[in-house]
Amino acid sequence: MPTATTKTNNTIMSDNNQGFSSSFGAIMAAVGSAVGLGNIWRFPYIMGKYGGGAFLLVYLVFVFMIGMVLMMTEFVIGRRSQHTPPKAFLHNRPDKKGWKYLGYLCVFTCLMIISQYVVISGWTTHYIVDSAVGTLSSLQAGDMAQHFNSFVAHPWLPVLFLLIFTIITAFIILGGVQKGIEAVSKILMPVLLVLVLVLCVRSITLPNASIGLKYLFSPDFSKLSGEGILAALGQALFSLSVGMGTMIVYGSYIPANDNIFKTSLMITASDTLIAVLAGVAIFPAVFSFGQEPAGGPGLVFQVLPTVFNSMGNIGTVFAVMFFFLLALAALTSAISLLETIVAWLCESSSLKRSSSTIVVTIAVLAIGALCSMAYGPLKEFLILGDNLFDFVDKLNSIYLPPICAIGTVIFLGWQMKKDDIIDELSNHGTLKVGYFKYYYFLVRFVAPIALLVVLFTGIINSLQ
Ligand code: PFF
Repeated sequence: MPTATTKTNNTIMSDNNQGFSSSFGAIMAAVGSAVGLGNIWRFPYIMGKYGGGAFLLVYLVFVFMIGMVLMMTEFVIGRRSQHTPPKAFLHNRPDKKGWKYLGYLCVFTCLMIISQYVVISGWTTHYIVDSAVGTLSSLQAGDMAQHFNSFVAHPWLPVLFLLIFTIITAFIILGGVQKGIEAVSKILMPVLLVLVLVLCVRSITLPNASIGLKYLFSPDFSKLSGEGILAALGQALFSLSVGMGTMIVYGSYIPANDNIFKTSLMITASDTLIAVLAGVAIFPAVFSFGQEPAGGPGLVFQVLPTVFNSMGNIGTVFAVMFFFLLALAALTSAISLLETIVAWLCESSSLKRSSSTIVVTIAVLAIGALCSMAYGPLKEFLILGDNLFDFVDKLNSIYLPPICAIGTVIFLGWQMKKDDIIDELSNHGTLKVGYFKYYYFLVRFVAPIALLVVLFTGIINSLQ
């Protein structure tokens, strides 16, 4: 029987020995990857900003027509090849060796994203402690910004929490695909759903909750600018964790008899539902206590602690619950990013899974710590005018994911054999794939064009 540490042949399975044990486990792991910081601190804010219900409508179109199409594409490439990105492309097109560079770019993108992700996840972990021990509840509203700014500028405290978060992530990866990733996701995702629902109930039963609900949902097409439309597409890709090879690796773990279309549909719907629920949990409470809506760190580390303080003693419980929820969401996303890099290293070197995990974790800690220190000791260190965190953020939001995503859809749409794609989607002819012609059209024409628009407008805007 293969064990987690024997290298028997040259596929990912050799070291991870199995994929996910069940469809449910596969869906929980992929939903875990998808539901992350992006759902909780970004989606609700941009939805409110760009016209509420109007934005949601556009988002739904993008998330199902482009995001889900990319997810199916990555699952097909991954499950058919049973490899990590570089070899996955080669396996599906052995005569075109150059495609392996797209795979390397995907792995590099994961490394850049996780290095930035663990910084924010570390802040979140610190805020669990800060709210549990009463530090946050002792602060006045006007002091929240100062508290946050001095924390992130501290020479070692944010690095310590980044280290704690990354090591927890690494331990789960060391547990393996089934006993680590799948087992943890099957527990954490239902817990996460319960936490969001509890926070939703608290939020919508506060006085004047309707103002927040109106801000979130009432459709205002005048606020839906071109910028809003592009934000919807960028968010759809980031939120589904597509465009950087993560779903190629998870695709290689999906059971052979799973229906890729249905699995992708369920993941996409769950991710979107949780993003909307996060908005319902946050904005009615923000408006109820007379705070201004915000996104990103400002929302999570400044506005929300003020909101929790306004709730009296019980606010501490909700604060701990919220930061715990955010850390769980971040953890299952970080797991998928780390797994992609570890599985790749394990497959392409002679290192075992355990050694690969240690090597990759050290690399993530090093880059992550440098990004974290960009707010403190390294704030004078600039690359092209940006501090290191902002530089990596630009790579991660403007350049790398759209480039990888364009490459991936072009690969499947124009390089793979149509029959092979149908064979994989239909589980070798056992499932009906009546949707195929729509999927094929979206992947060949619509997705590449939309992604090119995102890439070029992103570049143009960043240069202005
Ligand atoms: N989907 C995650 C979020 O919404 O926060 C972010 C993410 C995770 C992106 C994993 C990419 C990835 F591979």
